[in-house]
Amino acid sequence: MAVVRIPEEKRVVDGDEPVASFLAAQGIDYERWVPSHVIDAGAPAAEVLEAYAAEIDRLKVRGGYVTADVIDVRPDTPGLDAMLAKFSREHWHDEDEVRFILEGKGVFHVHPRTGPVFAIEVLAGDLIRVPRGTWHWFDLCADRRIRAIRLFQDPAGWTPQYTESGVDRGFEPVCLGPDHVPPRA
Ligand SMILES: [Fe+2]
Repeated sequence: MAVVRIPEEKRVVDGDEPVASFLAAQGIDYERWVPSHVIDAGAPAAEVLEAYAAEIDRLKVRGGYVTADVIDVRPDTPGLDAMLAKFSREHWHDEDEVRFILEGKGVFHVHPRTGPVFAIEVLAGDLIRVPRGTWHWFDLCADRRIRAIRLFQDPAGWTPQYTESGVDRGFEPVCLGPDHVPPRA
C-alpha cells in the first residue's frame, strides 16, 4: 500500500482511503488491484497481463491507452544507472505515466504548480496514474528492484521533458523499512 510524505509539512499520509483522497485532490489516480486469479509476481509477462486484463481494459477505455507491457528492473539490469538517471531529474511527459507495481518498490516525487512537493512510495498492488504534464521524478529504493505493468497512449509521448528546475536535488527518496536509499552524492 502506497505511503505519501510531504517533507515540507513533515506529514505522512497512509491507508488506502487517505492516500487515494490526497492523490485524487492532486489529480493523481490511485487504486489497489487484485488479480483475477492467483499469479506469481515473477510469472511471464503475457500471464501477468492476462491476470489483470479486466483492470487494464477498464483503464484503456478510460484513458485512451493503446498498449500495455511489463517492465522488469533488477540490480544487475544492464545500463540501470543511466536508465535511473533519466527519470530521477524533474520532468514531465506528453502522456500519462501509468504504472501497476507487481514486485519491488519505488518513489515518485510530484511537484505541484502550487503547494509543496510530495513523495509517493509505491509497492506491489499499487496502480498509479500521473497525468500528462505533471512535474515529477522517480527513484528506486535501495534494493533497486521493480516489476510493473505500464500503459501507454502513444509510447512516443513518454520521452521525459526536463524542467531543469533543480528542485529534485532538495529531496531524498526515502523508502520504508530497512531499505533506506543512501543519500545521493
Ligand atoms: Fe516520468
